[in-house]
Amino acid sequence: MNISKVGVLGAGTMGAGIAQVAAQAGHRVVLVDVNADALDQAEKNFQSIFSRLIEKGKMTKEQMIETSNKISYSSSFDSFSNCGIVIEAIVEKIEIKHAVFSQLEKIVSDDCILASNTSSLSIASIGSVLKHSNRVIGIHFFNPAPLMPLVEIIPAVQTSESTLKYSKALIESWGKVTVLAKDTPGFIVNRVARPFYGEALRIYEEGIADFATIDWAMTAIGGFKMGPFTLMDYIGNDVNYAVTESVFSAFYYDPRFKPSFTQKRHSEAGFYGRKSGRGYYDYAQGVELPKPIEDTELGQQIFDRILVMLINEAFDALFLNVATREDIDLAMTKGVNYPKGLLQWADELGLDNVLSKLEDLFSEYGEDRYRPSPFLKRKVRENHLFNSK
Ligand code: NAI
Repeated sequence: MNISKVGVLGAGTMGAGIAQVAAQAGHRVVLVDVNADALDQAEKNFQSIFSRLIEKGKMTKEQMIETSNKISYSSSFDSFSNCGIVIEAIVEKIEIKHAVFSQLEKIVSDDCILASNTSSLSIASIGSVLKHSNRVIGIHFFNPAPLMPLVEIIPAVQTSESTLKYSKALIESWGKVTVLAKDTPGFIVNRVARPFYGEALRIYEEGIADFATIDWAMTAIGGFKMGPFTLMDYIGNDVNYAVTESVFSAFYYDPRFKPSFTQKRHSEAGFYGRKSGRGYYDYAQGVELPKPIEDTELGQQIFDRILVMLINEAFDALFLNVATREDIDLAMTKGVNYPKGLLQWADELGLDNVLSKLEDLFSEYGEDRYRPSPFLKRKVRENHLFNSK
Protein backbone atom coordinates (compact mmCIF):
# COMPACT_ATOMS: atom_id res chain seq x y z
CA MET A 1 0.00 0.00 0.00
CA ASN A 2 1.30 3.44 -0.79
CA ILE A 3 -0.79 5.10 1.92
CA SER A 4 1.68 6.16 4.58
CA LYS A 5 -0.26 8.71 6.59
CA VAL A 6 -3.74 7.96 7.86
CA GLY A 7 -6.13 10.62 9.12
CA VAL A 8 -8.83 9.83 11.67
CA LEU A 9 -11.55 12.37 12.39
CA GLY A 10 -13.17 12.01 15.83
CA ALA A 11 -11.19 10.91 18.87
CA GLY A 12 -14.08 9.14 20.65
CA THR A 13 -14.48 5.43 21.27
CA MET A 14 -14.25 4.39 17.62
CA GLY A 15 -11.86 7.03 16.24
CA ALA A 16 -9.28 6.38 18.95
CA GLY A 17 -9.57 2.61 18.40
CA ILE A 18 -9.09 3.00 14.63
CA ALA A 19 -6.10 5.31 15.14
CA GLN A 20 -4.53 2.69 17.42
CA VAL A 21 -5.03 -0.07 14.83
CA ALA A 22 -3.49 2.06 12.04
CA ALA A 23 -0.51 3.11 14.18
CA GLN A 24 0.15 -0.47 15.30
CA ALA A 25 0.12 -1.44 11.62
CA GLY A 26 3.00 1.02 11.12
CA HIS A 27 1.27 4.12 9.70
CA ARG A 28 1.74 7.67 10.78
CA VAL A 29 -1.64 8.73 12.09
CA VAL A 30 -3.15 12.12 12.77
CA LEU A 31 -6.13 12.10 15.09
CA VAL A 32 -8.33 15.19 14.78
CA ASP A 33 -11.20 16.28 17.03
CA VAL A 34 -12.91 19.62 17.61
CA ASN A 35 -12.89 18.87 21.30
CA ALA A 36 -9.43 19.22 22.91
CA ASP A 37 -10.52 17.15 25.94
CA ALA A 38 -11.39 14.23 23.66
CA LEU A 39 -7.85 14.36 22.21
CA ASP A 40 -6.28 14.50 25.70
CA GLN A 41 -8.43 11.62 26.83
CA ALA A 42 -7.53 9.55 23.78
CA GLU A 43 -3.82 10.14 24.39
CA LYS A 44 -4.14 9.15 28.06
CA ASN A 45 -6.11 6.04 27.13
CA PHE A 46 -3.42 4.99 24.65
CA GLN A 47 -0.80 5.16 27.40
CA SER A 48 -2.81 2.93 29.71
CA ILE A 49 -3.77 0.50 26.89
CA PHE A 50 -0.13 0.21 25.78
CA SER A 51 1.06 -0.26 29.40
CA ARG A 52 -1.43 -3.12 29.79
CA LEU A 53 -0.20 -4.66 26.52
CA ILE A 54 3.38 -4.50 27.87
CA GLU A 55 2.30 -6.15 31.15
CA LYS A 56 0.67 -8.94 29.15
CA GLY A 57 3.81 -9.35 27.04
CA LYS A 58 1.98 -8.36 23.86
CA MET A 59 4.07 -5.24 23.26
CA THR A 60 7.65 -4.24 24.05
CA LYS A 61 8.60 -0.88 25.53
CA GLU A 62 10.32 0.02 22.23
CA GLN A 63 7.15 -0.80 20.30
CA MET A 64 5.15 1.34 22.70
CA ILE A 65 7.42 4.33 22.11
CA GLU A 66 7.43 3.72 18.38
CA THR A 67 3.63 3.40 18.18
CA SER A 68 2.99 6.40 20.45
CA ASN A 69 5.33 8.51 18.32
CA LYS A 70 3.37 7.61 15.21
CA ILE A 71 0.20 9.27 16.52
CA SER A 72 -0.15 13.03 16.43
CA TYR A 73 -3.10 15.04 17.70
CA SER A 74 -4.71 18.08 16.19
CA SER A 75 -7.84 20.18 16.29
CA SER A 76 -7.38 21.45 12.74
CA PHE A 77 -8.59 19.76 9.57
CA ASP A 78 -5.47 21.19 7.84
CA SER A 79 -3.48 18.37 9.44
CA PHE A 80 -5.13 15.99 6.96
CA SER A 81 -3.51 17.71 3.97
CA ASN A 82 -0.92 14.98 3.33
CA CYS A 83 -3.02 11.91 4.25
CA GLY A 84 -3.73 9.08 1.79
CA ILE A 85 -6.98 8.26 3.57
CA VAL A 86 -9.16 9.95 6.17
CA ILE A 87 -11.56 7.82 8.21
CA GLU A 88 -14.38 9.79 9.82
CA ALA A 89 -15.77 8.62 13.18
CA ILE A 90 -17.75 11.55 14.54
CA VAL A 91 -21.31 11.91 15.76
CA GLU A 92 -23.96 9.92 13.81
CA LYS A 93 -25.80 12.88 12.24
CA ILE A 94 -26.05 13.20 8.48
CA GLU A 95 -26.01 17.05 8.40
CA ILE A 96 -22.79 17.10 10.42
CA LYS A 97 -21.20 14.39 8.26
CA HIS A 98 -22.17 16.38 5.13
CA ALA A 99 -20.55 19.51 6.54
CA VAL A 100 -17.30 17.80 7.50
CA PHE A 101 -16.95 15.83 4.24
CA SER A 102 -17.24 18.96 2.11
CA GLN A 103 -14.78 20.71 4.40
CA LEU A 104 -12.39 17.75 4.21
CA GLU A 105 -12.39 17.78 0.41
CA LYS A 106 -11.05 21.33 0.39
CA ILE A 107 -7.99 20.22 2.33
CA VAL A 108 -6.98 16.75 1.16
CA SER A 109 -5.31 15.82 -2.13
CA ASP A 110 -7.44 14.75 -5.11
CA ASP A 111 -6.69 11.07 -4.66
CA CYS A 112 -7.20 10.89 -0.88
CA ILE A 113 -9.85 8.30 0.07
CA LEU A 114 -12.61 9.69 2.30
CA ALA A 115 -14.15 6.96 4.44
CA SER A 116 -16.88 6.92 7.05
CA ASN A 117 -17.20 4.56 10.00
CA THR A 118 -20.95 5.23 10.18
CA SER A 119 -23.09 2.37 11.54
CA SER A 120 -26.35 3.33 9.94
CA LEU A 121 -26.16 6.26 7.53
CA SER A 122 -26.10 5.97 3.76
CA ILE A 123 -22.62 6.15 2.24
CA ALA A 124 -24.14 7.47 -1.01
CA SER A 125 -25.66 10.36 0.93
CA ILE A 126 -22.40 11.12 2.76
CA GLY A 127 -20.56 11.14 -0.60
CA SER A 128 -23.17 13.31 -2.29
CA VAL A 129 -21.52 16.51 -1.03
CA LEU A 130 -18.15 15.66 -2.63
CA LYS A 131 -16.93 16.96 -5.98
CA HIS A 132 -14.93 13.73 -6.47
CA SER A 133 -17.49 11.38 -4.97
CA ASN A 134 -15.83 8.25 -6.38
CA ARG A 135 -13.42 8.46 -3.40
CA VAL A 136 -16.12 7.92 -0.75
CA ILE A 137 -16.49 4.53 1.00
CA GLY A 138 -17.84 3.02 4.20
CA ILE A 139 -15.25 1.35 6.42
CA HIS A 140 -17.18 0.07 9.40
CA PHE A 141 -15.22 -1.19 12.41
CA PHE A 142 -16.71 -2.90 15.45
CA ASN A 143 -16.24 -1.87 19.03
CA PRO A 144 -13.56 -2.19 20.40
CA ALA A 145 -11.78 -1.65 17.06
CA PRO A 146 -8.36 -2.97 18.16
CA LEU A 147 -9.91 -6.27 19.33
CA MET A 148 -12.75 -7.02 16.93
CA PRO A 149 -11.42 -8.66 13.77
CA LEU A 150 -14.27 -7.68 11.44
CA VAL A 151 -14.51 -4.63 9.22
CA GLU A 152 -17.41 -4.13 6.80
CA ILE A 153 -16.40 -2.43 3.56
CA ILE A 154 -19.28 -0.56 1.94
CA PRO A 155 -18.88 0.90 -1.53
CA ALA A 156 -21.55 3.46 -2.43
CA VAL A 157 -23.01 3.78 -5.93
CA GLN A 158 -20.43 6.53 -6.57
CA THR A 159 -17.38 4.57 -5.28
CA SER A 160 -14.70 3.73 -7.86
CA GLU A 161 -13.18 0.27 -8.22
CA SER A 162 -9.78 1.65 -7.21
CA THR A 163 -11.16 3.23 -4.01
CA LEU A 164 -12.71 -0.12 -3.12
CA LYS A 165 -9.61 -2.11 -3.99
CA TYR A 166 -7.24 0.15 -2.02
CA SER A 167 -9.49 0.38 1.00
CA LYS A 168 -9.99 -3.36 1.23
CA ALA A 169 -6.26 -4.07 0.80
CA LEU A 170 -5.35 -1.42 3.37
CA ILE A 171 -7.71 -2.72 6.04
CA GLU A 172 -6.59 -6.31 5.42
CA SER A 173 -2.97 -5.18 5.77
CA TRP A 174 -3.97 -4.04 9.29
CA GLY A 175 -4.77 -7.69 10.10
CA LYS A 176 -8.55 -7.31 9.83
CA VAL A 177 -11.08 -9.62 8.19
CA THR A 178 -13.11 -7.68 5.63
CA VAL A 179 -16.56 -8.40 4.25
CA LEU A 180 -18.18 -6.54 1.40
CA ALA A 181 -21.63 -5.10 2.10
CA LYS A 182 -24.16 -3.27 -0.04
CA ASP A 183 -24.95 0.30 0.97
CA THR A 184 -28.25 -0.63 2.64
CA PRO A 185 -29.46 0.15 6.20
CA GLY A 186 -27.44 -1.62 8.89
CA PHE A 187 -25.11 -3.13 6.24
CA ILE A 188 -24.70 -6.81 7.26
CA VAL A 189 -24.27 -7.08 11.03
CA ASN A 190 -26.60 -4.33 12.22
CA ARG A 191 -29.33 -5.64 9.93
CA VAL A 192 -29.02 -9.39 10.46
CA ALA A 193 -28.56 -9.07 14.25
CA ARG A 194 -31.78 -7.07 14.84
CA PRO A 195 -33.92 -10.08 15.88
CA PHE A 196 -31.36 -11.06 18.54
CA TYR A 197 -32.58 -8.01 20.44
CA GLY A 198 -36.05 -7.48 18.95
CA GLU A 199 -37.36 -11.03 19.30
CA ALA A 200 -35.91 -11.36 22.82
CA LEU A 201 -37.74 -8.16 23.79
CA ARG A 202 -40.95 -9.42 22.18
CA ILE A 203 -40.73 -12.73 24.07
CA TYR A 204 -40.32 -10.74 27.29
CA GLU A 205 -43.23 -8.42 26.42
CA GLU A 206 -45.50 -11.39 25.82
CA GLY A 207 -44.67 -12.56 29.34
CA ILE A 208 -43.17 -15.84 28.13
CA ALA A 209 -40.03 -15.39 30.22
CA ASP A 210 -38.04 -12.80 32.15
CA PHE A 211 -34.73 -11.21 31.10
CA ALA A 212 -32.55 -13.68 33.00
CA THR A 213 -34.34 -16.72 31.58
CA ILE A 214 -34.10 -15.45 28.00
CA ASP A 215 -30.39 -14.71 28.50
CA TRP A 216 -29.89 -18.18 30.00
CA ALA A 217 -31.67 -19.81 27.02
CA MET A 218 -29.44 -18.04 24.49
CA THR A 219 -26.19 -18.79 26.33
CA ALA A 220 -26.71 -22.18 27.98
CA ILE A 221 -28.80 -23.73 25.21
CA GLY A 222 -27.86 -21.59 22.20
CA GLY A 223 -24.13 -21.27 22.88
CA PHE A 224 -24.06 -17.47 22.43
CA LYS A 225 -21.35 -15.77 24.51
CA MET A 226 -23.82 -13.28 25.95
CA GLY A 227 -27.60 -13.18 26.25
CA PRO A 228 -29.50 -10.37 24.48
CA PHE A 229 -30.35 -8.38 27.63
CA THR A 230 -26.83 -8.60 29.04
CA LEU A 231 -25.53 -7.51 25.63
CA MET A 232 -27.98 -4.60 25.30
CA ASP A 233 -26.90 -3.48 28.78
CA TYR A 234 -23.29 -3.50 27.53
CA ILE A 235 -24.03 -1.66 24.28
CA GLY A 236 -26.31 0.81 26.07
CA ASN A 237 -30.07 0.85 25.58
CA ASP A 238 -29.91 4.40 24.25
CA VAL A 239 -27.42 3.40 21.54
CA ASN A 240 -29.08 0.06 20.70
CA TYR A 241 -32.53 1.66 20.57
CA ALA A 242 -31.29 4.45 18.29
CA VAL A 243 -29.79 1.92 15.85
CA THR A 244 -33.03 -0.10 15.83
CA GLU A 245 -35.12 3.00 15.21
CA SER A 246 -32.83 4.19 12.44
CA VAL A 247 -32.84 0.76 10.71
CA PHE A 248 -36.66 0.63 11.07
CA SER A 249 -37.24 4.02 9.44
CA ALA A 250 -34.56 3.42 6.81
CA PHE A 251 -36.46 0.27 5.78
CA TYR A 252 -39.62 2.33 5.24
CA TYR A 253 -41.08 0.99 8.47
CA ASP A 254 -40.92 -2.69 7.62
CA PRO A 255 -42.55 -4.34 10.69
CA ARG A 256 -39.70 -6.85 10.83
CA PHE A 257 -37.52 -4.13 12.32
CA LYS A 258 -40.07 -2.54 14.64
CA PRO A 259 -38.48 -1.19 17.84
CA SER A 260 -39.74 -2.23 21.26
CA PHE A 261 -41.54 -0.12 23.86
CA THR A 262 -39.73 -1.98 26.61
CA GLN A 263 -36.39 -0.79 25.29
CA LYS A 264 -37.71 2.69 24.58
CA ARG A 265 -38.96 3.06 28.16
CA HIS A 266 -35.71 1.74 29.60
CA SER A 267 -33.82 4.23 27.49
CA GLU A 268 -36.19 7.11 28.41
CA ALA A 269 -35.81 6.28 32.09
CA GLY A 270 -32.03 6.49 31.79
CA PHE A 271 -31.69 2.73 32.32
CA TYR A 272 -28.97 2.55 29.69
CA GLY A 273 -27.22 -0.47 31.14
CA ARG A 274 -23.79 -0.86 32.68
CA LYS A 275 -22.71 2.70 31.96
CA SER A 276 -25.61 4.13 34.02
CA GLY A 277 -25.54 1.43 36.71
CA ARG A 278 -28.91 0.07 35.71
CA GLY A 279 -30.47 -1.36 32.57
CA TYR A 280 -32.48 -4.53 32.34
CA TYR A 281 -30.40 -5.57 35.32
CA ASP A 282 -29.34 -3.57 38.37
CA TYR A 283 -25.55 -3.25 38.56
CA ALA A 284 -25.39 -1.49 41.93
CA GLN A 285 -22.84 -2.94 44.30
CA GLY A 286 -24.17 -5.75 46.42
CA VAL A 287 -27.26 -6.33 44.26
CA GLU A 288 -27.45 -9.90 43.09
CA LEU A 289 -28.41 -10.56 39.48
CA PRO A 290 -31.75 -12.39 39.15
CA LYS A 291 -31.66 -16.14 38.62
CA PRO A 292 -33.13 -17.68 35.46
CA ILE A 293 -35.82 -20.35 35.43
CA GLU A 294 -33.77 -23.21 34.05
CA ASP A 295 -36.60 -25.00 32.28
CA THR A 296 -35.02 -26.76 29.31
CA GLU A 297 -38.21 -27.04 27.28
CA LEU A 298 -39.01 -23.33 27.67
CA GLY A 299 -35.37 -22.42 27.03
CA GLN A 300 -35.31 -24.45 23.82
CA GLN A 301 -38.50 -22.73 22.58
CA ILE A 302 -37.03 -19.30 23.27
CA PHE A 303 -33.74 -20.14 21.57
CA ASP A 304 -35.45 -21.71 18.53
CA ARG A 305 -37.71 -18.68 18.07
CA ILE A 306 -34.87 -16.16 18.18
CA LEU A 307 -32.58 -18.33 16.05
CA VAL A 308 -35.09 -18.87 13.21
CA MET A 309 -35.76 -15.12 13.14
CA LEU A 310 -32.01 -14.47 12.83
CA ILE A 311 -31.70 -17.09 10.10
CA ASN A 312 -34.65 -15.54 8.25
CA GLU A 313 -32.90 -12.17 8.29
CA ALA A 314 -29.66 -13.74 7.03
CA PHE A 315 -31.60 -15.39 4.18
CA ASP A 316 -33.25 -12.11 3.27
CA ALA A 317 -29.90 -10.30 3.23
CA LEU A 318 -28.61 -13.00 0.90
CA PHE A 319 -31.77 -12.84 -1.21
CA LEU A 320 -31.35 -9.07 -1.71
CA ASN A 321 -27.62 -9.39 -2.44
CA VAL A 322 -26.49 -7.39 0.57
CA ALA A 323 -23.47 -9.70 0.72
CA THR A 324 -22.33 -13.18 -0.26
CA ARG A 325 -23.22 -16.24 1.76
CA GLU A 326 -19.64 -16.54 3.02
CA ASP A 327 -19.49 -12.87 4.04
CA ILE A 328 -22.83 -12.99 5.87
CA ASP A 329 -21.64 -15.93 7.97
CA LEU A 330 -18.20 -14.40 8.49
CA ALA A 331 -19.72 -11.07 9.54
CA MET A 332 -21.80 -12.61 12.32
CA THR A 333 -19.02 -14.81 13.70
CA LYS A 334 -16.23 -12.21 13.50
CA GLY A 335 -18.24 -9.04 14.12
CA VAL A 336 -20.55 -10.13 16.95
CA ASN A 337 -19.01 -13.44 18.03
CA TYR A 338 -21.94 -15.67 17.07
CA PRO A 339 -21.07 -19.31 17.77
CA LYS A 340 -21.81 -20.24 14.13
CA GLY A 341 -22.64 -18.54 10.87
CA LEU A 342 -26.42 -18.33 10.57
CA LEU A 343 -26.62 -19.81 7.07
CA GLN A 344 -24.42 -22.72 8.08
CA TRP A 345 -26.58 -23.14 11.19
CA ALA A 346 -29.69 -23.25 8.99
CA ASP A 347 -28.19 -26.06 6.92
CA GLU A 348 -27.39 -28.01 10.07
CA LEU A 349 -30.92 -27.59 11.43
CA GLY A 350 -32.50 -28.41 8.07
CA LEU A 351 -34.09 -25.66 6.03
CA ASP A 352 -37.48 -27.42 6.25
CA ASN A 353 -37.37 -27.18 10.05
CA VAL A 354 -36.44 -23.51 10.00
CA LEU A 355 -39.19 -22.69 7.50
CA SER A 356 -41.82 -24.66 9.37
CA LYS A 357 -41.02 -22.82 12.65
CA LEU A 358 -41.31 -19.49 10.87
CA GLU A 359 -44.56 -20.51 9.22
CA ASP A 360 -45.97 -21.51 12.62
CA LEU A 361 -45.08 -18.08 14.01
CA PHE A 362 -46.48 -16.33 10.92
CA SER A 363 -49.75 -18.23 11.11
CA GLU A 364 -50.11 -17.74 14.87
CA TYR A 365 -49.47 -13.99 14.87
CA GLY A 366 -50.50 -13.02 11.36
CA GLU A 367 -47.84 -10.32 11.50
CA ASP A 368 -45.56 -9.44 8.63
CA ARG A 369 -42.71 -9.51 11.13
CA TYR A 370 -42.70 -13.30 10.88
CA ARG A 371 -43.01 -13.66 7.11
CA PRO A 372 -40.47 -16.18 5.85
CA SER A 373 -37.93 -14.93 3.33
CA PRO A 374 -38.89 -15.90 -0.23
CA PHE A 375 -35.34 -17.17 -0.65
CA LEU A 376 -35.70 -19.63 2.23
CA LYS A 377 -38.99 -20.86 0.72
CA ARG A 378 -37.35 -21.22 -2.67
CA LYS A 379 -34.42 -23.17 -1.22
CA VAL A 380 -36.76 -25.56 0.60
CA ARG A 381 -38.72 -26.10 -2.60
CA GLU A 382 -35.52 -26.73 -4.60
CA ASN A 383 -34.27 -29.21 -1.98
CA HIS A 384 -37.54 -31.12 -2.24
CA LEU A 385 -37.29 -31.21 -6.01
CA PHE A 386 -33.67 -32.31 -5.80
CA ASN A 387 -34.40 -35.03 -3.24
CA SER A 388 -37.35 -36.40 -5.18
CA LYS A 389 -35.30 -36.79 -8.38
P1 NAI B 1 -18.10 9.20 20.31
O1 NAI B 1 -19.20 10.06 20.77
O2 NAI B 1 -17.37 8.35 21.30
O3 NAI B 1 -16.99 10.12 19.59
C1 NAI B 1 -17.28 11.08 18.62
C2 NAI B 1 -16.17 12.13 18.62
O4 NAI B 1 -16.35 12.99 17.49
C3 NAI B 1 -16.18 13.01 19.86
O5 NAI B 1 -14.89 13.01 20.44
C4 NAI B 1 -16.53 14.41 19.32
O6 NAI B 1 -15.86 15.45 20.00
C5 NAI B 1 -16.06 14.31 17.88
N1 NAI B 1 -16.75 15.22 16.98
C6 NAI B 1 -18.08 15.46 16.90
N2 NAI B 1 -18.33 16.32 15.91
C7 NAI B 1 -17.14 16.64 15.34
C8 NAI B 1 -16.73 17.46 14.26
N3 NAI B 1 -17.64 18.17 13.56
N4 NAI B 1 -15.44 17.53 13.94
C9 NAI B 1 -14.53 16.82 14.63
N5 NAI B 1 -14.83 16.01 15.68
C10 NAI B 1 -16.12 15.93 16.01
O7 NAI B 1 -18.70 8.33 19.10
P2 NAI B 1 -18.34 6.85 18.64
O8 NAI B 1 -19.10 5.87 19.44
O9 NAI B 1 -16.85 6.73 18.55
O10 NAI B 1 -18.98 6.83 17.17
C11 NAI B 1 -18.42 7.52 16.09
C12 NAI B 1 -18.95 6.98 14.79
O11 NAI B 1 -18.69 5.57 14.70
C13 NAI B 1 -20.47 7.11 14.59
O12 NAI B 1 -20.72 7.35 13.23
C14 NAI B 1 -20.99 5.75 15.02
O13 NAI B 1 -22.22 5.44 14.41
C15 NAI B 1 -19.89 4.86 14.51
N6 NAI B 1 -19.75 3.55 15.19
C16 NAI B 1 -19.88 3.45 16.54
C17 NAI B 1 -19.73 2.20 17.16
C18 NAI B 1 -19.84 2.06 18.65
O14 NAI B 1 -20.01 0.92 19.12
N7 NAI B 1 -19.73 3.12 19.41
C19 NAI B 1 -19.45 0.97 16.37
C20 NAI B 1 -19.24 1.23 14.96
C21 NAI B 1 -19.43 2.47 14.41
